Amino acid sequence: MSSAIFDDVKGSLVCPRHHVALSYEKRFSAREGVPWPDGDMTCSEGCRWAIGGGIPRFVSGTSYASSFGLQWNRYPRTELDSYTGKSYSRQRLERCLGTPLESLQGKVVLECGSGAGRFTELLIQHCEALVCIDLSSAVDANFRNCRPIHPYLIMQGDINASPLPLQYFDVVVCLGVIQHTSNPEGTLRSLARHVKPGGHLIVDHYTRERGSKLGRLLSHLDYIDMVHPIRAVLKRMKPENAMRATNLLTAFCDPIRRRTSKIRAVDKVARRLFPTACYYTKFPDLDPKVVYEMNQLDTFDWLTDYYKYFRSSKQIRTFLESLGLEVNSCQLGGNGVEARATVPRTGHQLVTPAAPEHRHAV
Ligand SMILES: C[S@@+](CC[C@H](N)C(=O)[O-])C[C@H]1O[C@@H](n2cnc3c(N)ncnc32)[C@H](O)[C@@H]1O
Ligand SMILES: [Zn+2]
Repeated sequence: MSSAIFDDVKGSLVCPRHHVALSYEKRFSAREGVPWPDGDMTCSEGCRWAIGGGIPRFVSGTSYASSFGLQWNRYPRTELDSYTGKSYSRQRLERCLGTPLESLQGKVVLECGSGAGRFTELLIQHCEALVCIDLSSAVDANFRNCRPIHPYLIMQGDINASPLPLQYFDVVVCLGVIQHTSNPEGTLRSLARHVKPGGHLIVDHYTRERGSKLGRLLSHLDYIDMVHPIRAVLKRMKPENAMRATNLLTAFCDPIRRRTSKIRAVDKVARRLFPTACYYTKFPDLDPKVVYEMNQLDTFDWLTDYYKYFRSSKQIRTFLESLGLEVNSCQLGGNGVEARATVPRTGHQLVTPAAPEHRHAV
């Protein structure tokens, strides 16, 4: 059944630039047995998109997401449940889905911004057919991690210039991604366009919103933080050099944060001066070596992401409703706001191509 779906998806791909059908030329050396034997996809307007390492690449050159590519290839397994032996990713995914993973049985799922595969390795084991798209070379790490588990389709491409069929997927999952794109609302719209009528969209987004009154008052202090000047420099550096710098920073700050993180009030101040990730208290059951790896990984993530936007739950809800979606849940949780919405069975207007607007990075 899933191979028929994969054939259908492959046959429905369009050129992300011209929205016309693609034809497929196998290279002489094509390796059989991988989902995409190496070759080229061409469009009638002259575009040529390579398939390399079993992955179609609908990208040209580097992008704002290149640092994510480095991050997930250097730390390909650090956040995977299959590596930590815990179920942190599963808990987050099930909370966002609003149901256990078993409910994905028989569903065709699109995962956008799949990174190294912390959610891919779980989705792939439960749904009928999984398709992944990610803008960066993270697709290589993802494919190495997840290909041995079960067949799936993965491609390198921008969800805002997507080759994938519209109104097709039962469930579209996009976690940890939208805040890092150039225009979060444009990305939400692009994601919703791939959900079939009656299907579900599962997303999250960074927020500055706080649950309590005191928290709301203190949120103004978010701007007093060493993160801002350090990130302004690092995100403009070559990702390899930026990673050297963030690893040095982690080595310097980690012994301090390891102590301060034991006292919440002290750590609230310390983390603004020593802005590295510190998960020793969040994951007390994990081997400290693994936690240190996570600290290195997330310090790089926080300090080098090119775009970092924040939205309140009200903003996310209002925007999803403006697209004509029924919002089933939209609340604070995990890394910010977590939302679940359903595309109505009739009458939604999401199929016209959406030109992504570009805004300045923050
Ligand atoms: C912070 S990582 C999260 C990865 C994974 N979802 C996780 O939670 O571990 C963000 C991912 O989104 C990808 N990404 C960013 N912009 C994208 C876009 N426009 N289309 C598809 N993927 C994108 C990046 O390449 C990166 O792998
Ligand atoms: Zn084209």
